[in-house]
Amino acid sequence: MSKELSKEPNKELSKGQIASLIETAIEQLSYSYVPYSGFRVGAALLAENGAVYTGCNIENAAYTPTNCAERTAFFKAVSEGVKNFRAICVVGGQDGKLTDFAPPCGVCRQVMMEFCSPEEFEIILATTTESYKVYKLKELMPMGFGPGNLA
Ligand code: THU
Repeated sequence: MSKELSKEPNKELSKGQIASLIETAIEQLSYSYVPYSGFRVGAALLAENGAVYTGCNIENAAYTPTNCAERTAFFKAVSEGVKNFRAICVVGGQDGKLTDFAPPCGVCRQVMMEFCSPEEFEIILATTTESYKVYKLKELMPMGFGPGNLA
């Protein structure tokens, strides 16, 4: 299940909505399963319908099955039938200390390309509710390959 954030599909995200997504992403750090790297990542994914799906990174002794926080959030949403998204907030740091932004890895950017408009989907990188920057997917994934390329 997911939390709800007020639904305003065509409006820019308010400062309050951004702060709420950052707080939710930070809350997920405690759920990270990171016995190998100790690098905790939390995500809060806002769907067009106002629902917020959370995610944390989940590591594995065989290393490659590790799932990033962003993909955890996306796959939770898609597995519940939700496929339209507005924004994701991502936070992360060694031992959960948020000293720098934690940008999404290439695989997670590719998953975003599958479900999100590169021109519209927003990626919020944050260290606190006051210290953040908002990027469009297109900025982080220029000339990305997506479903449109197979159409
Ligand atoms: N990680 C994420 O959760 N998201 C990213 O986009 C980058 C990396 C995780 C994977 C691994 O558990 C840890 O951070 C160190 O790479």
